[in-house]
Amino acid sequence: MSSASTASTSAATDPTIPVAAAPARALPGALARFDLTGRVALVTGASRGIGLALARGLGEAGARVVLNARGGARLDAALAALRAAGIAAEAAPFDVTDAAAIERGVAAIEAEIGPIAILVNNAGMQHRAPAADFAEADWRRLQATNVDSVFFVSQAVGRRMLARRAGRIINIGSVQSELGRPSIAPYCVSKGAVKMLTRALAAEWGPMNIQVNGIGPGYFRTELNAALVADPGFSAWVEKRTPAGRWGEVEELVGAAIFLASDAACYINGQMLMVDGGMTSVV
Ligand SMILES: NC(=O)c1ccc[n+]([C@@H]2O[C@H](COP(=O)([O-])OP(=O)(O)OC[C@H]3O[C@@H](n4cnc5c(N)ncnc54)[C@H](OP(=O)(O)O)[C@@H]3O)[C@@H](O)[C@H]2O)c1
Repeated sequence: MSSASTASTSAATDPTIPVAAAPARALPGALARFDLTGRVALVTGASRGIGLALARGLGEAGARVVLNARGGARLDAALAALRAAGIAAEAAPFDVTDAAAIERGVAAIEAEIGPIAILVNNAGMQHRAPAADFAEADWRRLQATNVDSVFFVSQAVGRRMLARRAGRIINIGSVQSELGRPSIAPYCVSKGAVKMLTRALAAEWGPMNIQVNGIGPGYFRTELNAALVADPGFSAWVEKRTPAGRWGEVEELVGAAIFLASDAACYINGQMLMVDGGMTSVV
């Protein structure tokens, strides 16, 4: 698609672009704008942790969720758990660092499940080492997992959203989208890049009725943070540094995801919503 041919068109001027779809479920009043009934939502990195919690939450709000991860028993178990909870769920295993695999996976989802209305770019990794000793291979693996994936999954899904003139993309950043911290310089770089990719795609695709926003989680107990969770000194630091006085629970990220995926957020674009117990607001 040529951006030159479409850049002057917007939801405000083109009546064929849907601004807000009619809710399909009878939620009361303003809550109807949060309803995701029937919308296909692809969540990357949904075999565990934050991605699985977000997939469950979007499913509970009515979305038909597609769980991505690299495949295997964890993804199978996640799929079974959501289906057992009555959520319409499918699995789409592919490696988000492999652009060709992404395109095949996204094409299959669209052909077999339906048009992707909501994309959550959540898959990510951490690797802790002093910057002076950080190995090149570890840097490249981390950037491929945390940054390349967000670009190439957004590209594969975004091309299709552009053709439909509708879509929501939610990128999972971090407090490290804003704040540096020793021993995780490459991770900080990657999450800063996620914030700027969110803004740049909002600028480029906003005129075609695609909203690209992000969520910046604070500290949540997941496998990614296993080493920190096991360290009482680190927990004490989190409790002191965070106005909420505690770690977050992954379910506490769900409201932000439903909001940003829903019609309630149709005039919000390019924003990072920090869900961090207040950490990034204080020194
Ligand atoms: N936990 C926190 O406190 C925290 C704070 C701020 C931001 N975040 C961000 O939140 C996101 C999720 O973190 P988490 O804590 O839930 O991590 P996690 O428990 O380690 O889960 C990571 C998920 O990403 C998937 N994944 C990793 N590499 C992948 C690849 N190449 N292709 C496809 N899937 C891949 C994993 O699936 P498989 O291994 O099964 O493939 C898994 O489902 C990350 O972007 C992270 O940076 C987390």
